[in-house]
Amino acid sequence: MYGPEGDEGAERAGYRVHLCFGPNCSPRESRALLPVLEAAVAREGLADRVEIIATSCRNRCDYGPSMNVYPGPTFYNELTAEAIDEIVREHLKKGQPVTRWLFRPKLLRPSVPSRKPRHFSR
Ligand code: FES
Repeated sequence: MYGPEGDEGAERAGYRVHLCFGPNCSPRESRALLPVLEAAVAREGLADRVEIIATSCRNRCDYGPSMNVYPGPTFYNELTAEAIDEIVREHLKKGQPVTRWLFRPKLLRPSVPSRKPRHFSR
């Protein structure tokens, strides 16, 4: 089965986790998070219900390390070992996404007041 169905369903749910090994996440230590993720999944007794896949770019390069959890998808970013442990305990074990590690786009620049249209005379 693939997907949580409330609390009871989440107990049985299967998840697929995509951890980014892309060119921007790798220098941010995403590869070092794989053994952390594998160990946390094993420690929580989820090895038969969680599939872990090292993937290419997840298209959130400025926010890496990136990880997607399916079903969802739920997008996690700026991950650390602490984040991985918490996501495994709360999301993958209990079915509760961990809001503090969710992807949140940064404001790239403050809003700029719109210009008045130019009027050209002939
Ligand atoms: S390299 Fe990881 S999101 Fe692009």
